[in-house]
Amino acid sequence: MCGIVGYVGEKKAQGFLVSGLKRLEYRGYDSAGVVTVSDDGEATLVRAKGKIAELEKKLSGLKRDDHVGVGHTRWATHGEPSELNAHPHRAGKIYVVHNGIIENYKELKDTLPQHDFKSETDSEVLAALIDSFYQDGKYELVDAVVQALKLVKGTYGIAVVSELSPDELVVARSGSPLVIGVGNNETLVASDASALVGHTKRAIYLNDGEVAVVRKDGIEVKTLNAEPVSAKVEEIETNLAAIQKGGYEHFLLKEIMEQPNSLAETLRGRVNVKEGTVHLGGPGLSEAELRKIRHLIIVGCGTAYHAGMLASYYIEQFTSEITVEVVIASEYRYRQAYIPDGTVALIVSQSGETADTLACLREIKKQGVRTVGIVNAIGSTIAREVDGGTYVHVEPEISVASTKAFTSQVIAMVMFGLTIAQAKGVRNTVLRPYVEEIAGLPEEIGRVLDAVNGDVKEIAKRYAKYEHAIYLGRDTAYPTAMEGALKLKEISYVDANAYAFGELKHGPLALVDDRFFEVALVPEGALYEKSVSNVQEVLARGGHMVVITNVSEFDLPVECVVKITTSVRLFAPLLMNLVMQLLAYYVTVEKGYNVDQPRNLAKSVTVE
Ligand code: M6R
Repeated sequence: MCGIVGYVGEKKAQGFLVSGLKRLEYRGYDSAGVVTVSDDGEATLVRAKGKIAELEKKLSGLKRDDHVGVGHTRWATHGEPSELNAHPHRAGKIYVVHNGIIENYKELKDTLPQHDFKSETDSEVLAALIDSFYQDGKYELVDAVVQALKLVKGTYGIAVVSELSPDELVVARSGSPLVIGVGNNETLVASDASALVGHTKRAIYLNDGEVAVVRKDGIEVKTLNAEPVSAKVEEIETNLAAIQKGGYEHFLLKEIMEQPNSLAETLRGRVNVKEGTVHLGGPGLSEAELRKIRHLIIVGCGTAYHAGMLASYYIEQFTSEITVEVVIASEYRYRQAYIPDGTVALIVSQSGETADTLACLREIKKQGVRTVGIVNAIGSTIAREVDGGTYVHVEPEISVASTKAFTSQVIAMVMFGLTIAQAKGVRNTVLRPYVEEIAGLPEEIGRVLDAVNGDVKEIAKRYAKYEHAIYLGRDTAYPTAMEGALKLKEISYVDANAYAFGELKHGPLALVDDRFFEVALVPEGALYEKSVSNVQEVLARGGHMVVITNVSEFDLPVECVVKITTSVRLFAPLLMNLVMQLLAYYVTVEKGYNVDQPRNLAKSVTVE
């Protein structure tokens, strides 16, 4: 979603601002802007609708030497994507970039008749409010920001610069992330640490309710109540290679192909094949606490929700002593759900910033329930607010469609389930087969990707003409099918939906005709024959089917079969998901759409 960058230092601010905004492009946006201020207080504000390339065109004749400035990519919430609605917003002598939503902006706007509003945004109201306290420099900028923020209801990450103090930025956060990069004679600001990679390895992550005055050689952090904060400088672990395409045409393909390594990172130091056990330190639960767990709530959105669904099928297989409830964060946050004693909540999020998931985390914590994060982004808000957690360690995921995070989220949650089962004394003979398969998965994923890539590319050419798709599966293949359908829908704009095979006759079978193609997951196992019968039902109605299976004898006359040769049984659906990821990718390439930044979507959904 929206992205913020800021710079104060000895170099030209414009360079970092534009390159930083490009790093944040993956988050999704529809307009962009920067302002820089010269040492003698002259501001240059440039904004453009559309891509950063449009902004660069406008900036090309305006190369400035200014040493301070802020920039923004906007993902429209209040008001259409347009130059006037783009940030930074000006009020008097100040310029503000804002992520988040000011919920009481209408009331606040009524108190600001002196400001000539140019945009439809809540963010300009915030700028005008700050200016009303600043009074053209009568008060310190930071004091004006604090006064204004005390009146605001909603969420914000902001960076403010003034023509009257071109040696500082004021930044603050509540609900929208802000990171301050500590450099040599320069300080950088961003809403996402990836913008800082290559500039500095040292960063301060602001907490909610904190405000900072940022200068090239110093950072002062305090709370909105003026209590000084001794901010911790943390290391940014991401390296440049992790946020570059590395020879691939798209981040999505790179991230699909990275899965052997990314999953190996998730497993590193956590699996003992010899003993047939797993060990997770992060959740921070003692053996006694693990033994007391009776119920898990798994909370997530989109792919993270699907990962939770799939993991729940496995966790239930380990022991009947745990029930698992998987919930969509945007729904759960408003439910009056009863949480039984002995519950632990798993909060699943790649970005660690998803607004609905974060809101659930806070609600659940209020009820005294122990929370465990399954998060990728290190230092993200969810990672910082959970009681304990397991990072999936898949490095940044840049493409909006989540792929490598899904695989690792599933396995991280399964490992958490195994950890509980071990503590509860479930026999090693029951758990060992899962542990052994998990340990071998990274290699198997690499093998399957190599084996199927070429075929799936060809198959995609055949199905790229369809506007509708049905994904089908039973048992663990059902949540996997849900994830497959989401992948196709979000990047290729095909109307793809998943159904449990057993639900076919209860409605979806009526859809089968020449406008649809079907993707069916048919894994080996106790329910294989039932899935085969369902495939026959679709075939009998003229379905255009792609079957993904690990059963070499599968011989029904469907249009396409992708056979996966593997010794993996329990986690075969995760291998089938690789085929669906590639299918979504190649169909989208065939259609010529923007693979990494699908329309209307953002990587990190920081608003409700
Ligand atoms: O960062 P999160 O894992 O919390 O994000 C959750 C969803 O927004 C995300 O998985 C989304 O559904 C993806 N676009 C799916 O590919």
